[in-house]
Amino acid sequence: MSTISPWKHDFPIFSINAHPNLCYFDSAATCLTPKHVAEAIYYYQCFSHANSHKSVYQLSANATELVEQAREKVANFIGATANEGVVFTSSSTESINLVATSFALNRLTKHSNIIIGAAEHHANLLPWQALCKQVGATLRIAPITSQGLIDVAALAKLIDSDTVLIAVNHVSNVLGVINPIKKIAEVAHQKNVPVLVDGAQGVRYGPVNFTDLGCDFYVFSSHKIYGATGCGVLVSKNKYIEQMSPFQLGAGIVQSVSYQEAIFTQGPLKFEPGSHNVAGIVGLVEAIDYLNDITWSEITAHTDATSAYLFQQLRELPYINPLIFWPNNEFHSNNVSDVVQCPSIFSFTMAGASCQDVAGFLDDSEIALRFGTQCVEPLHHSLNLAASLRVSLGLYNGFEDIDRLVTGIKSLNNLIQGPDIFDENNNILDNE
Ligand SMILES: Cc1ncc(COP(=O)(O)O)c(C=O)c1O
Repeated sequence: MSTISPWKHDFPIFSINAHPNLCYFDSAATCLTPKHVAEAIYYYQCFSHANSHKSVYQLSANATELVEQAREKVANFIGATANEGVVFTSSSTESINLVATSFALNRLTKHSNIIIGAAEHHANLLPWQALCKQVGATLRIAPITSQGLIDVAALAKLIDSDTVLIAVNHVSNVLGVINPIKKIAEVAHQKNVPVLVDGAQGVRYGPVNFTDLGCDFYVFSSHKIYGATGCGVLVSKNKYIEQMSPFQLGAGIVQSVSYQEAIFTQGPLKFEPGSHNVAGIVGLVEAIDYLNDITWSEITAHTDATSAYLFQQLRELPYINPLIFWPNNEFHSNNVSDVVQCPSIFSFTMAGASCQDVAGFLDDSEIALRFGTQCVEPLHHSLNLAASLRVSLGLYNGFEDIDRLVTGIKSLNNLIQGPDIFDENNNILDNE
């Protein structure tokens, strides 16, 4: 493999008059935008924009068709069948809030409970926490194993006849592990409990198959798969869509309305009041096409190769401490088995330097990586950490980027510690 990613030139941000030296390691927060997506949005917005689902004139009808074709495209992408519906939202966050309000709220009593994992993003914690507080219900936390995965046996013990929903991430945005969703869905369904999967990170390591995963709700955001921000998706079993009332109210979701009453439309549209984010949806379709054109086998091979190189390089630095564990070398994106799977998200701390200082120092060399609690603060508390650093790789990252990162970290360490505290085997020298 060349040291430079074969897809790097697809991303205008690296062009000579933008940020040619940028080393971007924050794809878990948001992916950079390939020109294909930017151009699709530009052309739609400049040359064919109109409001969808509102009128019969040609431009509006075209916009409606774009949205409805996108719904089919997303369904195919996510392996949803005719039994499932695709709802467009603004983000994973909004999709989860939708399920919290429209599905869980009126099923919850003060005797019931909701179960989430111990390493959930705040987007998949706060809505459930608030809902449980509002109703007096209990939020149960399923622990994670020493390998960072949700402990399915422990989770199974938390489920009882008062459990309303289980909400877990597909891929942890901090630990990078792929959770055993199939197994979780199996144990949940044995007790008739539906499962929501926060796929904000999982969907980038596709192809995700909703039917195969066996969950009931799956959420993701376009910008985590190289689309634009402001466009999200909720995939839901139709039986739940039918039972759920609208989340927000406004134009385009009623069959009829009087001053006193409203009869809402059926299906996904009832969750999409107001004007659709057509440009964002066009961008999502283009992002899906972009990934499909590269092919998922190429994407997986690239992810596995760059991840393996990253872990191998960082592991040689004795002052780098993984948040929980060093990933092994078994990378099988989205292939649920018992091995630890790490799709290119890695969190760590560095001995002798605060995470903020490391991130700031690397930024001086245009190396961008995340520091903080990464919106998973309770996990950091339980690990007694104020913060961590996170490297997350995207299609544009090649070995060259990882070399620059490692050189940057080594330089910082030399500045802090002096170069001579490790011998050739990376054992700390006794300088006394
Ligand atoms: C696991 C996970 N869930 C949810 C979210 C929220 O995504 P968004 O900001 O697109 O709503 C993120 C964002 O980083 C995430 O990593």
